Amino acid sequence: MAEVVIVENAEAAGTLVATEIVELIAQRADAVLGLATGSTPLPVYQALRTQLAGRDLSQVRGFALDEYVGLDPAHPESYRSVITREVIEPLGLDPQRIHVPNGAHATIQHAGDDYEAAIEAAGGVDLQILGIGTDGHIGFNEPGSSFASRTRVKTLTEQTREDNARFFDSIDDVPRHCITQGLGTILKARHLVLLAFGEGKAQAVADAVEGPLTAFLPGSAIQLHPHATIVVDEAAASRL
Ligand code: GLP
Repeated sequence: MAEVVIVENAEAAGTLVATEIVELIAQRADAVLGLATGSTPLPVYQALRTQLAGRDLSQVRGFALDEYVGLDPAHPESYRSVITREVIEPLGLDPQRIHVPNGAHATIQHAGDDYEAAIEAAGGVDLQILGIGTDGHIGFNEPGSSFASRTRVKTLTEQTREDNARFFDSIDDVPRHCITQGLGTILKARHLVLLAFGEGKAQAVADAVEGPLTAFLPGSAIQLHPHATIVVDEAAASRL
């Protein structure tokens, strides 16, 4: 079973996970981080700014989980923009070493294979940060995603589009498709760290940690991983 760590609040979770990442980078300057977007991982990135201040991070590598399809990469809410704004620039990482799936139409057909090959060439992800959607999705692997899936294009559910509408002017502006690492891709990372905060995530957390293993609860895939850590506040842990 996954290791569940209950912390007081999101800030404490950020500090805890950042400490783990700092240790990883201290061991290997070219550690490979699995980066997530959404609001959940932001306290981790915030804590890293303090804990890694003044360090040479030029060798650190990273792979984001997912990206919208059909959104200009320069749009402020593209995951390329978010990772640049929240991770690359404040931490001083080398943008050439930090990868985000390519959601541009022209290359979408091969984008999944190329991304898988890049992760493989890097030797795999050392520590994968994960959030979880209210419908249990990880990355953008919506309910029904195969546990063996690899990076590919998916259709976003209405629930996810509604959840993410807060980042856009209106729900009509939320893309309908995405490109996401598959559950099979995510499971290959050497350490999974899933964070969740608030009552709204309680059911998704319970399903992920204790629910049946089923493609309809994509988060339940973490039960197959030998080293998964779940960092939650009391509210998100309330249905465990
Ligand atoms: C988004 C992202 C996921 C994220 C999830 C939860 O759509 N694709 O990687 O974990 O939904 O988002 P939040 O952390 O904002 O609740």
